[in-house]
Amino acid sequence: MDHAFTPVDRISGILRMPADKSIAHRSLLLAGMAGGTSRLSGPISGEDLLSTRRCMELLGARITEEGTDALVVRGTGWNVPREARLYCGNSGTTMRLLSGALAGRPGTFTLTGDASLSRRPMRRVAEPLRMMGASVETAERGLPPLTVQGGALSPISYRSPVPSAQVKSAILLAGMQADGTTTVEEPAPSRDHTERLLAWLGCRVERGSGRASITGGDQLFSHPGFELDLPGDLSSAAFWLVAAILVPGGSVRIEGVGLNPRRLGILEILGAMGADLEISPTGEQPEPVGFVAARSRQLKAVEIAGSLIPRAVDELPLVALAATQAEGVTVIRDASELRVKETDRVAVLAEGLRTLGAKVEDRHDGLVIEGPAPLTGGVVDAAGDHRMAMTFAVAALIARDRVTVRGWEAAAVSYPQFLQDLEKVAG
Ligand code: S3P
Repeated sequence: MDHAFTPVDRISGILRMPADKSIAHRSLLLAGMAGGTSRLSGPISGEDLLSTRRCMELLGARITEEGTDALVVRGTGWNVPREARLYCGNSGTTMRLLSGALAGRPGTFTLTGDASLSRRPMRRVAEPLRMMGASVETAERGLPPLTVQGGALSPISYRSPVPSAQVKSAILLAGMQADGTTTVEEPAPSRDHTERLLAWLGCRVERGSGRASITGGDQLFSHPGFELDLPGDLSSAAFWLVAAILVPGGSVRIEGVGLNPRRLGILEILGAMGADLEISPTGEQPEPVGFVAARSRQLKAVEIAGSLIPRAVDELPLVALAATQAEGVTVIRDASELRVKETDRVAVLAEGLRTLGAKVEDRHDGLVIEGPAPLTGGVVDAAGDHRMAMTFAVAALIARDRVTVRGWEAAAVSYPQFLQDLEKVAG
């Protein structure tokens, strides 16, 4: 579906975001694995979360809506059917986390996905899970579908070649079912929502910078259930923060948003670019939450690399867009993971931003962007990727002419209310 966006004169207002996608996936999964009944509150929306919900239902969890903004999940104690075919849609988190959670269950579980997910690398979870004793088959070149035959697991110490919260979480969810202590080390710290939630639920988890371990036990499976208020998604908020910074006179405030330090890379980067931001925590436990406000400001170029990349991985497309309007040459390095997201985000960003008149060069592990360059109108292709679709929509707000985003429907993967929120803040 094509969607045409016209430039705006104003961005201002106060918004609340849909529930944090990473935390909501884990909450659905852990509530479904727990013994009792849990209540998750917050607007749990988007196709990815529906994928996790459906998989958990197929595995025996009973999930019902309570009003518009809460789900009640009757858990399984992780007694699951001996066989299941689980469609994970577009969601890498669903496929990778479930593969680990199911590795300790006796049975045969086939995990499939849509065309985009079917092109994403799964060897990164298959290998450590095999080392733990599970049988994990992939299609050629380590691609989905995954067939997991679970059973008794042994603990491992694993050094992941990539900083990935999905890989780390899959190993910890399997490690929870092994006899002993499983440790994961990664080259740079990735988001720690799984560790936080498991520790909050009484599992024996230890967390360090770039290191996490879990000691097996049935604390979760016998858990009576929990109540969790889900924070808003900072990754969705980032679209409006960047819009407010780039549209002259813009200003937004996002309330009730997750402020986990391992997700704050986008705020660190925008701050280093000279953005006018206000960040105020209002609560913690198990996840920090607060508000973030941004106001329009001329940006300057920055260099981004190393351990900052995993802290901002989903927001790098927005950093690239912001860089088109910043003074100087912005360099994004060490970001080859962007090439194996829902699409090759390096290639799609470079192509789309160039179509709109930006000066962008793609490198094997990132992008070089020279700004400021006025953006023109045009037709850009989201390549079936939700974050690309919404990044181009924000680009359209500051373009000179109309911008048509091809494949706009992908936005519903994480943020189905994007256009309604745009209506609320745009003038
Ligand atoms: C996620 C981890 C990140 C991120 C993805 C969500 C998660 O992926 O890009 O959108 O919820 O664990 P990787 O683990 O592949 O880095």
